[in-house]
Amino acid sequence: MIHHRIAVAARKGGVGKTTIACGLASVLSHQGLRVLVIDLDPQSNAAYVLGVDPIAPGTAELLTGGNPSALEAAPTLHVLPGGPELGSQRIQSLHPEELAEAVKSLNYDAVIFDCPPGNEYLERLGLAAATVALVITNAHPLAAMGASRVLEILETYQKKGWRGPGRWALVSSQIDARRSLDKQSIPHLAKRYPYIPQMVVHQDTTLSLAAAEQIPLMNYAPSCRGASELGTIAQWIIKDHQFSGTSDA
Ligand SMILES: Nc1ncnc2c1ncn2[C@@H]1O[C@H](COP(=O)(O)OP(=O)(O)O)[C@@H](O)[C@H]1O
Ligand SMILES: [Mg+2]
Repeated sequence: MIHHRIAVAARKGGVGKTTIACGLASVLSHQGLRVLVIDLDPQSNAAYVLGVDPIAPGTAELLTGGNPSALEAAPTLHVLPGGPELGSQRIQSLHPEELAEAVKSLNYDAVIFDCPPGNEYLERLGLAAATVALVITNAHPLAAMGASRVLEILETYQKKGWRGPGRWALVSSQIDARRSLDKQSIPHLAKRYPYIPQMVVHQDTTLSLAAAEQIPLMNYAPSCRGASELGTIAQWIIKDHQFSGTSDA
């Protein structure tokens, strides 16, 4: 049984999805959970960032009925790499709930779907498989526009009773309080989405250095600001889960 199925999505690229997905994976695994990152990006960035082979068989094989071996990034942190095959016609013609079905047989405490930018189809596979979503934006209006598209999809799924997350949060990423755009962005989003929980991951060079050095965040710099902010996000995911008593067979 998987307790937490977490989609990290934004529609926009470069806003910190992979940084947050991989950082959160490292935080949860350090809390004793067995974590799998499912990389839905044809560029396979999550696999790279976590220091495993980005071109090994992974998510595409899982989606097409294979049994790929998850790669070990740390003792309780595994990864299924993405790769160009995810952009193939074969994958694009799968049923949108194919990933939700495929992960049912996996044995982890938490699975994190790192959604790709732009590719709405792959993003939807991840959203439909998740019980909780982190919608990422940064302070740029184009990023906020991308996040609003994802939020619309989540609301539609919920209204129609379709498979997908029962709850979600908006994460403001790469925030630097010295920039006026960034300072305005958080209160603006809070006003625009008063009922959606909001969290922040500030601009923190340590996060990008951990990714560049391909070392899971908690093995690289467990007390950096980003790790502590990701800890708060992890707590929201786990606490609310316990509170609502939901489980995820
Ligand atoms: N909070 C942050 N602080 C510093 N650098 C960040 C932060 N989030 C992301 N980055 C950097 O920004 C770039 C894009 O981030 P990434 O997570 O790959 O975005 P996405 O997955 O949305 O395309 C990377 O170089 C990454 O290291
Ligand atoms: Mg990415």
